[in-house]
Amino acid sequence: MSDRIRTILAFESSCDDTAVAIVREDGVVLSNVVYSQVKEFSAYLGVVPEIGSRSHVEQILHCSKKAFQNANLSPKDIDVVAATFAPGLLGPLLVGAQFAKGFALAQKVPLIAVHHIVGHVLSAYSEEKFPRPPFLALIASGGHSALYLCSENFDISVIGESLDDAAGEAFDKIGRALGLGYPAGKIIDELAQKGDASRFSFPIAMRNESHFNFSFSGLKTHAIERIKLLSPFDEKTLHDFCASLQEAIAVALVERSIRALKTYCLRNLVIGGGVAANSRLRELLAQECQKQAIDVFLPQKSLCTDNAVMIARAAIPKLKQGLYSELSIDVSARLRVEEAALLTKNFID
Ligand code: KG4
Ligand code: ZN
Repeated sequence: MSDRIRTILAFESSCDDTAVAIVREDGVVLSNVVYSQVKEFSAYLGVVPEIGSRSHVEQILHCSKKAFQNANLSPKDIDVVAATFAPGLLGPLLVGAQFAKGFALAQKVPLIAVHHIVGHVLSAYSEEKFPRPPFLALIASGGHSALYLCSENFDISVIGESLDDAAGEAFDKIGRALGLGYPAGKIIDELAQKGDASRFSFPIAMRNESHFNFSFSGLKTHAIERIKLLSPFDEKTLHDFCASLQEAIAVALVERSIRALKTYCLRNLVIGGGVAANSRLRELLAQECQKQAIDVFLPQKSLCTDNAVMIARAAIPKLKQGLYSELSIDVSARLRVEEAALLTKNFID
């Protein structure tokens, strides 16, 4: 095998972002283009899969051209193509997957099908200070809130997950009740900056239980009932409410992560998913991990929300092991992360 550093073209289209990135095998990012469909969904206060699928079709070629322009490369410079094949919304997934297959066929390059969660876990893989596995990963987004173990050979397994709403879903639904628009996590984060987090208390579920699952629906219902009582909000109350809410969600995520690290005798934590961009969560994790002598890796905020750099980086360990995907592979809305290995095969005899 040659020592030449190979170049990966990657696509992410599992939900409401059309993302294309070009990343080198050593992890260096050559371009990172993300088209967010958020504006298209603001009137509906949530993702509409049919509209999303069409928007991915309209955007993917444009985003790809931009990614090549920004990297100053052309398709013949690509050695391997990667794309999210699972889990996610079927229509949106199909757009990125079919586009990637078409590129692989036309350019005669291999394909690596990637699991979206592996992408979040490895979004900062190969960056300075990114831990060597084994490590624990906390992934909190609009669709997932879970703790994962990443083994020495990058096999990922869940040790606890939300039994109902994901943390981002709770932010978004409470934000909707506050009339803040969609998605609300970032807006709540900004409003919370000026608030007093001790003014309101919110229930944190299953705090003293020994498992590592989360539950945010009780907190969500409590918050929505409280909003009805407090409305109309004055500015100070809105800031205090957002700060208190954000604090409760951050405490729930941090407490369970620290307990899991202790239980599994791990000293490294990686975070990811849109909620990992939350400023209070990042601050509290940094504080609490320092107290416990745990190293926490906080990827830059733009790598926490959905992007294609994370898909390219998740493909790097596969590329190094000669693990590729067949062009006949199908997308899957629900494939569990423990089954991610089914997406690739060893084509080297
Ligand atoms: O990972 P992501 O981009 O897409 C999914 O796979 O879901 O995460 C989106 C979620 C949304 O629920 C959004 O409200 C939340 O991440 N989010 C935040 C912040 N930025 C995005 N939640 C809290 N604080 C933030 N700063
Ligand atoms: Zn995601």
